[in-house]
Amino acid sequence: MSLCRICNASVREFFDFGHHPLSAAFVEPGDSGEEFRFRLAIGICEECTMVQLLEDIPEGRQFHGGYPYHSSNSTVMRAHFEETARGFLAKELTGPDAFMVEIGSNDGVTLRTVGEAGVRNLAFEPSGAGGGRVHRAFFDGASAREVRESEGPAGVVYAANTICDVRDIGQVFEGADVLLAPDGVLVFEDPYFGEIIDRRSFDQIYDEHLFFFTAHSVHAMAARFGFQLVDVERLPVHGGQIRYTLARAGRRTPTADVAGLLAEERGRGLTDSRTLDAFAESVRGIRQDLLALLAKLTEQGHSIVGYGATAKSSTVTNYCGIGPELVPFVCDTTPSKHGKLTPGAHIPVRPPRAFSEPYPDFALLFAWNHAEEIMAKEQEFRAAGGKWILYVPDVHIV
Ligand code: TMP
Ligand code: ZN
Repeated sequence: MSLCRICNASVREFFDFGHHPLSAAFVEPGDSGEEFRFRLAIGICEECTMVQLLEDIPEGRQFHGGYPYHSSNSTVMRAHFEETARGFLAKELTGPDAFMVEIGSNDGVTLRTVGEAGVRNLAFEPSGAGGGRVHRAFFDGASAREVRESEGPAGVVYAANTICDVRDIGQVFEGADVLLAPDGVLVFEDPYFGEIIDRRSFDQIYDEHLFFFTAHSVHAMAARFGFQLVDVERLPVHGGQIRYTLARAGRRTPTADVAGLLAEERGRGLTDSRTLDAFAESVRGIRQDLLALLAKLTEQGHSIVGYGATAKSSTVTNYCGIGPELVPFVCDTTPSKHGKLTPGAHIPVRPPRAFSEPYPDFALLFAWNHAEEIMAKEQEFRAAGGKWILYVPDVHIV
């Protein structure tokens, strides 16, 4: 039995994807070595309701040197982070000596925008990546103390797509407590479990996402570490996220949106076993439908190409058992993935131009969270008669 990473109570499993490779462990062709695998399974804490992976990836097996690095080769994401920075500048970073910290750096877009407005800022990023001023360390009590001594208190500690990956969240709270000014805020945004249920986006579940937050679980977690959930905001990016704003307990009045979302989650039974069992059932259905569709199209002689060698695609291909016999290659914009094989499923990855040489009949859209942007730039594929295959919230062709 697994124990909750937040409160140590028991975690009840509700879905097992089987043994999966690490989602970023692309394979060199010809490399016949055994891939590391772990049991990808998800459960819910019976006490604090935190939804989480059941297994830890052993120390040293993780792929990335620091926080997962998100490249904003997406214009939508770049605009999102610029907008985020402007929001902080207007609401939180208004004093003469304002200071903002980001955990991880997400390409540095947020902090660059903050810096351009003349506000002091620093990223905690063990790999050193990011572009601006970087403190090469994980964010925890000790590293926050060092920065507090040299820089003074911060008005904002921000993290995007990062906190859900951090095994020891207690250390993040300790760091925030050390570094934040009395009225400062800890703000983080990650995939929302409510959206995962709504969209049946089971492919958000992979090695790097340890936690799947809800207003309930974040509310309970904040209280546990002396903080309070004071605001929630829905974000349309990455398939549906929530931005949680936390302040020290009693320092700010929670917005009506907090009570609203808590009530909504209660009302819909978001973490009831009925809801979780229905989710599990639909994921099994998606696997069946997707395999049947790909097999039928292949049999009919249609060509199919994968679009975006995303981390999410590792869950889809390995859970469904989709290999090069159904999807001969995946095209992707990331140069370091070109010429490699996807983890576990071993589908070759090719550069974007392979997509149009010639256009396939069907494209399986693994990067569905960027669907709008991708469909807009691939209009010629449509014009050539190409169709997109999507598998959330169900298998369909558009
Ligand atoms: P993520 O942003 O969901 O993590 O997925 C990013 C991956 O998708 C990355 O490998 C790049 C790829 N990608 C494309 O190949 N084409 C695109 O237009 C976009 C937006 C992403
Ligand atoms: Zn718990």
